[in-house]
Amino acid sequence: MLNIRIEKTKDPKVLPGKDNPLKFGTIFTDHMFIMNYETGKGWYDPRVIPYQPLNLEPSAMVFHYGQEMFEGLKAYKTDDGRTLLFRPDKNIERANRTNRRICIPEIPEEDFLQAIKTVVKVDEAWIPTKEGTSLYIRPFIIATDPYLGVRPSDRYLFIIILSPVGAYYPEGLNPVKIWIEDEYVRAVKGGIGEAKTGANYVASMKSQVKAHDEGYSQVLWLDGVHRKYIEEVGAMNIFFKINGTVLTPELNGSILPGVTRDSVLALCREWGLPTEERKISIDEIKAAHENGTLEEVWGTGTAAVISPVGQLRWENHIMQVQDGGIGPISQKLYDTITGIQLGRLEDIHNWTVEV
Ligand code: COI
Repeated sequence: MLNIRIEKTKDPKVLPGKDNPLKFGTIFTDHMFIMNYETGKGWYDPRVIPYQPLNLEPSAMVFHYGQEMFEGLKAYKTDDGRTLLFRPDKNIERANRTNRRICIPEIPEEDFLQAIKTVVKVDEAWIPTKEGTSLYIRPFIIATDPYLGVRPSDRYLFIIILSPVGAYYPEGLNPVKIWIEDEYVRAVKGGIGEAKTGANYVASMKSQVKAHDEGYSQVLWLDGVHRKYIEEVGAMNIFFKINGTVLTPELNGSILPGVTRDSVLALCREWGLPTEERKISIDEIKAAHENGTLEEVWGTGTAAVISPVGQLRWENHIMQVQDGGIGPISQKLYDTITGIQLGRLEDIHNWTVEV
């Protein structure tokens, strides 16, 4: 168990008012959690302090070789005033998987959870309650050794910041348009595609700019070898409903194992929907669209929750889904997941954890 020192701010910010639209990731709360690591000493000095800039050497390794990881989860306020986290154990487990992959020291799971709960408790008043909002929790670790050689750092900072958020996409629950990338790739098997590290996101930016310029919200990636099998979208996993069956790409090493992805699979199976995790080719999607069996497409993610997809563009083929509206399964998934997160539906899976 960590002995967390708490230093409260003497200058609290004004909480965003109820009418604030809460653009994703733009407002930060009063406090942050921070803890240091040094080889030989381990993780030490856990503390909650006022939210503030970091003081780092320009030679800190994170700036040069990108040794960093991050996670994303959310806290919700229930109607009866409790604060709930959604499946934090899954994020913590994945964080340590990422750490192992990029040679960052692991954080004991119970310490990680204690750190999240402590900082969320301190800034509990920041949890928004308007429909579709939550407190986004962003834990991350950066390598801080002042050194220009390539090797794992001996020093790190583990930090958790908090941001009251609304919908990730400006479209909200309205369907997004997705561009299927045919030039660049995001990740390959054996690389770091399944790790939650910034490098995967910077790899996506050039295509994202191109997609935006064409009027699309996000990029859907194909596999890096055959350029044929569907992988994931920049900020979410992807699902298709074809002829009654729910399909999502299998976790093959280059796809992020999403927590919402896992929850959606569990719910669809409980609802008796045939569900398959397997390779899905772009030709299969195109054929399903052409023969009228592509019933629904949606993305899943912590930030995105359930995001219906209304249009896919692959080369010159424009595939319209659900007449551009939200499909019944996407809507049911959104209602069920947010219902559990907000404590309005019975949590039979024990997915929520009280702070
Ligand atoms: C999340 O959904 O939590 C993510 O980390 C995706 C990020 C692009 C916002």
